[in-house]
Amino acid sequence: MGSFNDGIDELIITSGAQQVMDLAAKSLCNERDTVICESPSFIGSLNTFRSYNINLCGVSMDNDGINIDLLEKALNTKKNVRFIYVIPNFQNPSGITLSLKKRKAIYELAVKYNVLILEDNPYGDLRFYGENIPNIKSFDKTGHVIYAGTFSKIISPGLRVGFAIAPKDIITKMVVCKQGQDVHTNVLAQLIIDNFLEKCDIKLHLSNLQKLYKEKAIYMEQFMERYFNGNITYNKIEGGLFVWCKIQIGIDIIDFCKAALEKKVCIIPGNTFMVDESEHTNAFRVTYSTPSKEQIEKGVKILGEIAKI
Ligand SMILES: Cc1ncc(COP(=O)(O)O)c(C=O)c1O
Repeated sequence: MGSFNDGIDELIITSGAQQVMDLAAKSLCNERDTVICESPSFIGSLNTFRSYNINLCGVSMDNDGINIDLLEKALNTKKNVRFIYVIPNFQNPSGITLSLKKRKAIYELAVKYNVLILEDNPYGDLRFYGENIPNIKSFDKTGHVIYAGTFSKIISPGLRVGFAIAPKDIITKMVVCKQGQDVHTNVLAQLIIDNFLEKCDIKLHLSNLQKLYKEKAIYMEQFMERYFNGNITYNKIEGGLFVWCKIQIGIDIIDFCKAALEKKVCIIPGNTFMVDESEHTNAFRVTYSTPSKEQIEKGVKILGEIAKI
């Protein structure tokens, strides 16, 4: 029979998922070690890794996630790879979801090359269509996966409560590293989350969130269809909060984003999410999380007009 403490040594509560990236880098990497990541990837994580002078190796993505051949090539050629960083569901910024086949392939490569996987999953609960795909952590029989979760996207980003699940020896290192940062995650914030989970029907809450964001995502796609006229293409939205768009006309992405901002539409140029920010891209990221239906229509219309010029 298991004891009360079973599994607790493999868990740390953090100040948001962002702190998991920081603790992983701080506890596992030396300067000039390599972290392999999807390209594009979440700027907050990339900047955290950069702040520890880690070499980033970006691997491009297909429609079903990171390219496995290129990932293996990177594992073969890069020195001192400490971990592979992936965002498996509705990736920020591309919106891409990693297929089950690729999740298994990444895990097998991690075991073969004996490197860790940092699986960052803030958006997995925000699925609008289809079936959930098992996390990589669920195949982990060998202690190669660090799983990062957060309440930021489903309860409140301001409370700053996230967590990591990882083998005990890694959690022990993270605990020491966290002591030098904030000692522990704010207790009042943890109590608020605990109270929410205790008193509210989390399944109902998640289904309400999915309904709300799905409705906005549908508006976004409808307006993109109506106003983009093929001048801008976009990835189909299956969940999460982001749409990755590509301009099909000859206009510099930074100029495009500046022109949008002048009309009070804030979008993020794709190069911000690249390992090499000087890499040419015609992509930008938009989100539908906070704007109303009217604002989504207005914003998309403005982007479509700029793309016609
Ligand atoms: C992929 C990814 N990881 C981590 C985070 C940070 O989440 P948290 O607010 O829990 O620190 C974000 C936030 O946007 C994100 O998109």
